[in-house]
Amino acid sequence: MDGNGRWARARMRPRTEGHRQGVKAARTAVRACAARGVQTLTLFAFSSENWRRPRQEVGTLMDLFVGSIGREVPELVEKGIRLRFIGDRGAFSERLQARMAEAEARTADNDHMDLVVAVSYGGRWDITQAARRLAEQVRSGALEPEAITPEVMDVQLATADLPDPDLFIRTGGEKRISNFLLWQLAYTELYFSDILWPDFEEAELDRAFAFFAGRQRRFGHIQEQIAGNGDA
Ligand code: IPE
Ligand code: MG
Repeated sequence: MDGNGRWARARMRPRTEGHRQGVKAARTAVRACAARGVQTLTLFAFSSENWRRPRQEVGTLMDLFVGSIGREVPELVEKGIRLRFIGDRGAFSERLQARMAEAEARTADNDHMDLVVAVSYGGRWDITQAARRLAEQVRSGALEPEAITPEVMDVQLATADLPDPDLFIRTGGEKRISNFLLWQLAYTELYFSDILWPDFEEAELDRAFAFFAGRQRRFGHIQEQIAGNGDA
């Protein structure tokens, strides 16, 4: 979700106003995905690097998180959406950590869609914390280094029980991953949009879905193996 600051600047408004509009766009995206039968939606709300922003902007973002968690949970419950936060939660205030845990608990039994919010998240952080856990298992003798496979790695990641993403959407015009789900995006279709996040709406989501529908996913195979009878 990129482009909040530029959206605000174009209107000669403070960046924080862009973030406020960004929350609305996120709500639109969640509703639209839930209505379209998306199984899992992951929103990259705050990266491990975003802590470097001016203190005031970080403060506003934290206030927006706290506020929106409380405000959105009833609708999530009503729509059967299960909320989960991934990232380095220890970096947040006790209050925010408690809010996150409470929101997760209140939506834990929902099964219409998983909404994953990546906060203080970084793909490198995720892979590193997984490696550290595996190293601890090796040290304790519970795991042989030879037994470490991609599948073993998978379950140590923050996304352990979630499917790898089919489609990645980045708004705001930049064409980079910026430390999002690095491991999990290995075979994901990448869609880059020039729209600034606060302007994101259903029509753009549908354009992204149309792009996805036009892709052929081979996962390393050749085209004939996919199109043919499977013996090729
Ligand atoms: C994305 O918008 C929102 C967050 C990272 C929280 P930006 O704040 O990065 O907006 P630009 O890139 O400055 O326009
Ligand atoms: Mg940005």
